[in-house]
Amino acid sequence: MTTDPIRNPFATLDPADIERLRKVFERHNYTEKAVQEVLPKCLDGFANSEGAGPVVQRALRENTPLNTLVRLCLVGLSEEEAVVREVLGESLLSDLLAGGLFERTAKGIRCPFIIYPVRGFYIVYDHLSAKHSEISKFMVMGVGTSSLAPANAAPRRHYRRALDMGCGGGFQSFQLAGHCDEVVGLDINPRALSMARFAAVLNRMDNIDFRMSDFFSAVEGEKFDLIVSNPPFVISPESEYHYRDGGLGADRVAETVIRNVGNYLEEGGVAVIICEWASLKENNAIDRLRQWVDGSGCDLWLSTSKQADLVAYAMSWIRSYQQHLTAEEYAKTYDRWLDYYEKLGMDGVQTGLIAMRKRDGQNWFFADDAPSVIRGRWGETLLQLLDIHTLLNTASIDEILDQPYQLSSAARMRHIYQQAGTRWASAEAEIFLEDPLPYSGRVDQYTAGLLSRCDGTAPLRQLVAGMGEAVGVSFPEIVEAAMPILQGLMQRGYLIPVSLLPPSQDATPE
Ligand SMILES: C[S@@+](CC[C@H](N)C(=O)[O-])C[C@H]1O[C@@H](n2cnc3c(N)ncnc32)[C@H](O)[C@@H]1O
Repeated sequence: MTTDPIRNPFATLDPADIERLRKVFERHNYTEKAVQEVLPKCLDGFANSEGAGPVVQRALRENTPLNTLVRLCLVGLSEEEAVVREVLGESLLSDLLAGGLFERTAKGIRCPFIIYPVRGFYIVYDHLSAKHSEISKFMVMGVGTSSLAPANAAPRRHYRRALDMGCGGGFQSFQLAGHCDEVVGLDINPRALSMARFAAVLNRMDNIDFRMSDFFSAVEGEKFDLIVSNPPFVISPESEYHYRDGGLGADRVAETVIRNVGNYLEEGGVAVIICEWASLKENNAIDRLRQWVDGSGCDLWLSTSKQADLVAYAMSWIRSYQQHLTAEEYAKTYDRWLDYYEKLGMDGVQTGLIAMRKRDGQNWFFADDAPSVIRGRWGETLLQLLDIHTLLNTASIDEILDQPYQLSSAARMRHIYQQAGTRWASAEAEIFLEDPLPYSGRVDQYTAGLLSRCDGTAPLRQLVAGMGEAVGVSFPEIVEAAMPILQGLMQRGYLIPVSLLPPSQDATPE
């Protein structure tokens, strides 16, 4: 088989050479932690970005084997051949040169790909310069914010089969491979699949099947327990990059994924998707999403950030690609993007993290504002939220009242006092959650008091009745007043029905 930059850049590379390269990485501690220690913190993930050159040169000026590997495999600098030979050994270097992983330049040896140690594995992707090269459409992206969002939200339980739709270099797949028996990674880009397959060998993972696929075409008739997807959702008049635009026009990538993902989920299976889609003047983004999921057999939980304004959205995307545009080209591009949005009737772009779970019965839909930050991996919290919403949507009010509840261990309360006569009296209370979803809100003193008594023993009915007595109203009246507030607290995970505690025993630590 011959090497081809798009179909197969590693055609002639032997798996034994990849394993030898891994041993070199291990010997010289080429790990995420070690890289973070040698590079300045501000370069986190951007060691090869514009302007980073002198910073990197200075930080890595000492000639250690680790620094050589970082310069070569992460930053993309050319290294003197003798120095590289010293680190890799003569025969491995010549095999990697022959296999196309490294190349000779006027200054020595260079790796035309990035090999990035992250989360305990390596992923392989393209330098940013590939954006403006002859392979630009097939450029393979690295780990971005959109990669981290679904990776952190995906439950890390042991599952039988998992799917990564739009796998690129395999960032999601490699995480899934750690807790699922079998993983399928799908991508339309053959260059991405080659890099993912190469990295799987480097990671010693043999439970991932990377398949060429147009959306779900390569898994027709198959079912999965967990699906993760970071599809190419950018809304633009372009179809320049597989990883960015998807090529379907408007927001049809998001629509295609949401409408179809349910067909590939087992009953009870969960899909975690990050995407952007349009808000139209005649149909807002949330309603459109509701229409797409309707009839899919899935519940849907959406965490949204503020809707992006079209000018800011277009500018930020064009700017990240504009280095090669003249002022005139930039103006034309901007006009073309804005005309496109106008023609589509758009008034904004919605970003959201979407969780869908296949469930027989009347499905629910819940959209909520995302907390300002989400910290760490929170798949167990997500599963618990899905369970709570299902309970709230399927149980009668009596069934909800008859359960005991426990306040989340992440819940905290802050009281604000104001002067009352000659003493301080509590005026209001702010309730908030610490990691992973730091929601916050205000509660009145009676609700605050009730929450403190939610220790998982007394049924809610008893606590609500006590609250009614304290304020001097009848039980039906207090139920009517308090339940919307308490249900709101349950929907965000402040208050958890004891029946949904603790998280499943087979959960792997997050
Ligand atoms: C935003 S990247 C995500 C890469 C990686 N999964 C991550 O999370 O970092 C989107 C990926 O979807 C792939 N893609 C684009 N169109 C596709 C299609 N029609 N079917 C399958 N994959 C597609 C792109 O090639 C790209 O690798």
